[in-house]
Amino acid sequence: MTRETLVRMARDVLNHGHAKTIVKADDFYKLPASVYFDKERNQREKDRVFKRIPIVLGPSAEIPNPGDFKTMDIVGTSILLTRTKNGDVMGHLNTCMHRGAPVTNEKFGNSKRFTCQYHGWTYSNEGKLIGIASSHDFGEIDKNCFNLLAFPVYERAGLIWGIINPESKIDFDVFISDYDKMIENFGLENWSLFAQRTLSGPNWKAGYDGYLDIYHVPILHKNTFGPKVSNRPLYYSWGPHQRVCTVSLSKDKVRAVLGYMSDLVDKPEEEWDMQTLLYGVWTVFPHASIASFLGGDRDLEAKDEGIPGHRGVMLSVLYPGEGVNEHYTSQYYLMENPPTDEEGIANAQAQFDLLEEIVGQEDYNMGRSQVKSLMGGGLKELTFGLNEKGNQNFYKWVDKVLDAKDDAELNEFFGSLGKEKGIPADTDKTAAA
Ligand code: FES
Ligand SMILES: [Fe+2]
Repeated sequence: MTRETLVRMARDVLNHGHAKTIVKADDFYKLPASVYFDKERNQREKDRVFKRIPIVLGPSAEIPNPGDFKTMDIVGTSILLTRTKNGDVMGHLNTCMHRGAPVTNEKFGNSKRFTCQYHGWTYSNEGKLIGIASSHDFGEIDKNCFNLLAFPVYERAGLIWGIINPESKIDFDVFISDYDKMIENFGLENWSLFAQRTLSGPNWKAGYDGYLDIYHVPILHKNTFGPKVSNRPLYYSWGPHQRVCTVSLSKDKVRAVLGYMSDLVDKPEEEWDMQTLLYGVWTVFPHASIASFLGGDRDLEAKDEGIPGHRGVMLSVLYPGEGVNEHYTSQYYLMENPPTDEEGIANAQAQFDLLEEIVGQEDYNMGRSQVKSLMGGGLKELTFGLNEKGNQNFYKWVDKVLDAKDDAELNEFFGSLGKEKGIPADTDKTAAA
C-alpha cells in the first residue's frame, strides 16, 4: 500500500521531469520580517508550539536497550526519556517531586533507577517513586502521588515523539496523518546510530527553512553540491508533514544526496528499488527532517554496479535556543548496515562531515546573517515565491498552531490538512500541462 504511494510519487516526479514542470504555489506569500526576531513571538512559539504539539525527541536507535536513558533541555524544560524493561519508551519531566531538583544530570546512560542528588529520593526508570531518604523523619506520604510527571510519548517508524505537556489532549494519529507509515519504509527501527553531533544555528525557523527550500541549493551550495544541481522542488504532504523531492532527470553524482529519481527512468516499475523510491527530504512538522543518502561516494559506485551499499539518513531535529537568533540542531547519522571496515567507516564519516559543512556552515551561517540583517530594520516583509510552496505552507501552519485556542482546535486543524496523503489531487493535470 505505501509502496504504491511511493511509486505514484516517483512516477509524478518523472512526469514533471519530462514535462519540465513543477507544482507551484497559488500566490506569493508575504511574511513579516519580525517573525524571525520578535522576542514575544519567539516565546509564544516555545510555549504554544514546542510545549504543545508532538515534537521529535530523537531516533529509537539512540536509546535501543532496556535501561537506556537520555535527558534533554527543550525550550527550558528538562526531560528524561527512558526505555523500560519491556522495551517501551517513557517520557518524564526531569524534576524531582520533592522540591524540584533534576533527578539526573547525566546526558545519556543506562540505569534502572535515578536518585535525586539533593535529598536522595529514588525513582524507577518508569518514573515511580521507590524510595524516600529518612522516610520516618520526612513523614508518611502516599508514594503513588509522587511519581515523576509523565508526558505522552509515541515511538513509530524508528523515531520517538513526545508532547511536552502532561495534560495534552492532542490526537497523535490525526497529527501524524499516516506519515509514519511512509517513514516506516526506511526500516529505521532496525538501523544503527553511526554518528551524532549538535550544531548551533540561527533562529529555528531560519534554520528550518533550508530543509524545505530547494531554490537555494545551486547558489548557496555551489562549492559543495555544485552550481549545476536542480533548484526545482516538488512537495508532497501528509497532514502538516512534507516530503521534498528534486525534479531532475540528471544522473550526476549528487543524485544520491538530493533525491533524484533519475535512476528509475529506464526501469520497469516493478523493479523500482526502495532506496531510490525513498530519496528526498522527509520533513516532520514543525522541526525535523530526514534526508536520505547512500553512505558515501563508494556506495554510489556500488549502486551503479548493482551492489547494495550502505544506506543512511541524516536526521536533523531543531530546537529553539535562548536568544531569538539561536537554535540547536541534534543531528544523527543513521545507517542500515554501518560499515565495519576502515574504508567504509572513513567514507561514511566523510559524508557526515560534508553534511556538517553544508548545513552547519553554509545554511546556518546564511540564516544567522539573514536574521541579523533583518534585525537591522528597513525590510518589513519577506516574499516567498511560487516555487517556495513548502516554506509557504510551513509558515502558514506555524501561525495556525500559534493561534489555536486549545487542543481540540489543534486536532481539527491537523485533521483538515493534507487529505491527499502524498499526491496532490491536481497532480496528473499539472504534470500533463
Ligand atoms: S529535591 Fe529531590 S530529593 Fe529533594
Ligand atoms: Fe541548504
